[in-house]
Amino acid sequence: MMFTDEALKTIGQYDIVEKLGDGTTATVYKAVQSSLDRFVALKLIHPNLANDPTFLPHLDHEARILARLDHVNIVHVYDVGEYRRRFYLAMQYVAGGTLQKRQAQLRARGERLALTEIEQIAQQIGSALEYAHSQGVIHRDVKPSNIIFAHDNRTLLGDFGISTIIGRPYGARALLPASGHAHGTLGSPAYLAPEQAHPELGPIGPASDVYSLAVVLYELVTGRVPFVANSPLAVISKHRNEQVPLPRTFNPDLPIEIERVLIRALAKDPLERYKRVAGFVDAFADAIKQALRTRPAIAGRRAARGRDEHPRDEPPALQHAAYQRRRHHADV
Ligand SMILES: Nc1ncnc2c1ncn2[C@@H]1O[C@H](COP(=O)(O)OP(=O)(O)O)[C@@H](O)[C@H]1O
Ligand SMILES: [Mg+2]
Repeated sequence: MMFTDEALKTIGQYDIVEKLGDGTTATVYKAVQSSLDRFVALKLIHPNLANDPTFLPHLDHEARILARLDHVNIVHVYDVGEYRRRFYLAMQYVAGGTLQKRQAQLRARGERLALTEIEQIAQQIGSALEYAHSQGVIHRDVKPSNIIFAHDNRTLLGDFGISTIIGRPYGARALLPASGHAHGTLGSPAYLAPEQAHPELGPIGPASDVYSLAVVLYELVTGRVPFVANSPLAVISKHRNEQVPLPRTFNPDLPIEIERVLIRALAKDPLERYKRVAGFVDAFADAIKQALRTRPAIAGRRAARGRDEHPRDEPPALQHAAYQRRRHHADV
């Protein structure tokens, strides 16, 4: 009998609580693992991907590599399995909402994160990537919807190497709505390094993650991604062929030191970027510190933190950040 996702109550040992979201390659559910009395985020890969006969053997190997990644800023992979010929991953459930959602809320209010908050995100996600690279894992899909806030305002990077596991999510197949099922969400190539779509430009490596993280930070400081177009293929072509618009075109208050760091990280040629994420993030953080030292006024408007600014079910992570800062200052 066919089943629809709507009818799903359990997957293996996991009881489905609610759907968290649909991505290009999977649907993610909040679920309960009752044996351990904990929530998990259960990622059920779309059937068209799991039907690929080369898929499942390949995946076990990759999943083992992901399960070994152990870092405070990486969403932990607990378990992998197969349910009715569909592959799933059970992951640490992170409750504070994605950076994508946070950005959308801020944008709606015409606000941006403060530079010190952006620096914290850069340091944490950078540290996650640097660690993964040291373990031989390239993320390949760094983007705001894969950056999730925890209750303590830490950010965690999820979906490590998932794009390796499920094949090329940004290949021609994934850029077109998948036929025969309802998801059909277009992959967003806004954060994709040029060499990820054009292999002749160089191998995918740590510098590819540098590029994608730079797009995320570009968006945080300017309010928009560098390349926008009305089709995914057009965006991909801009990454390859068009000069990155200077961030200060969109945010004239942005210190030029920060702009320079972003432009280098967004070089078309992977060899012209920072080689390592650590080098990029250090330069980014130094640029922020230097700018704040000489011109404290550019710290930027803080995100509003009123309790009622946050939906009831979402922890007010930004309020928490303010609290942490106050506590820190009280300590010293
Ligand atoms: N570990 C997690 N904890 C909590 N929510 C998650 C987790 N992983 C994913 N999500 C939610 O599920 C949504 C869909 O995830 P995904 O299938 O990876 O697509 P995308 O990353 O493109 O949004 C995310 O946008 C996020 O809201
Ligand atoms: Mg994701």
